[in-house]
Amino acid sequence: MNMQLPTRVKLVDVGPRDGLQNEKGTVPAAVKIELVHRLQAAGLKEIEVTSFVSPKWVPQMADNAEVMAGVQRQPDVRYSVLTPNLKGFEAAAACRPDEVVVFGAASEAFSQRNINCSIAESIERFAPVVEAARAQGIAVRGAISTAVGCPYEGEVSPERVGYVARLMKQIGVQHVGVCDTIGVGTPRKVQAAMEAALAHYELDEVSGHFHDTYGQALANTLASLEMGVWQYDTSVAGLGGCPYAKGATGNVATEDVVYLLHGMGIETGVDLDRLIDAGQYISDFLGRKPNSRAATAILNKRAG
Ligand code: HMG
Ligand code: MG
Repeated sequence: MNMQLPTRVKLVDVGPRDGLQNEKGTVPAAVKIELVHRLQAAGLKEIEVTSFVSPKWVPQMADNAEVMAGVQRQPDVRYSVLTPNLKGFEAAAACRPDEVVVFGAASEAFSQRNINCSIAESIERFAPVVEAARAQGIAVRGAISTAVGCPYEGEVSPERVGYVARLMKQIGVQHVGVCDTIGVGTPRKVQAAMEAALAHYELDEVSGHFHDTYGQALANTLASLEMGVWQYDTSVAGLGGCPYAKGATGNVATEDVVYLLHGMGIETGVDLDRLIDAGQYISDFLGRKPNSRAATAILNKRAG
């Protein structure tokens, strides 16, 4: 194992997409756009803006094109969107994303529930998306959900992650994210899932995406850093928590990861104070406190 910690980490803030997709109440496009603006003002260089999925399945993302059109882009920021199939890709492509994300799963049951098809079928759907994206110079990332545990099947073995990573590699997906969808992973299990992905992808082509349901996401981030993994998806204010849906809480808060990394002397390019302001903006809109310990601590300090 590579025990050399990275000196710089790339964070993809997935708050506007992963975070807001679970919100029951409609979040207006203008608020989503303002959130993206505040994230880029805080120094985030990668933002997952929205998804081009069925509005019947995820009504909150129905304003995808409007949000993409409203963002004032910065030349050094990359904007990504989720595209489950060719229909989604075609709608997304018109909005000129820098990267599209195909999202599969390591467990069959989650694949069926999330995207209504088997793992094998999902790969067949992704293949033309990858081909079209790459022909247009759009980067393609793959998300491997339920990489350590599945809400329907329980524990998921690293072999399942390796299997999906291999299939994604075969169809030309350039990067894979190892995703702990329900936050059940602990460091050794997450490292085993990472290893399985790293059997098919280079270190520079693998990222971590950890939901914090069981409070393990920071530990899992550190465990992955110890393997040299230097790219992570995180969500401002820990967005994604749904008070009504058991077992579904948000991604690890970007604020907490930035605090961890800066404390270890690892660069992110993010201004923590401005990030906290961005988190407070969206939390105020949603009528709750940021779901980030670091943000809470710093906001309390400011108030005092
Ligand atoms: P389906 O019903 O199997 O698709 O859904 P279909 O091809 O049979 O089409 C059915 C209808 O949907 C048709 O419309 C299509 O036009 C329409 P109708 O003729 O009935 O009016 N349709 C679409 N509309 C808009 N955009 C599209 C699209 N595709 C078909 N792209 C589908 C398959 C994948 C579309 C559906 O299951 C879906 O939208 N699922 C949403 C899944 C989702 O967004 N999940 C959350 C994101 S993933 C995630 O959060 C995990 C991640 O964070 C990592 C982790 O934490 O694990 C990434
Ligand atoms: Mg997620």
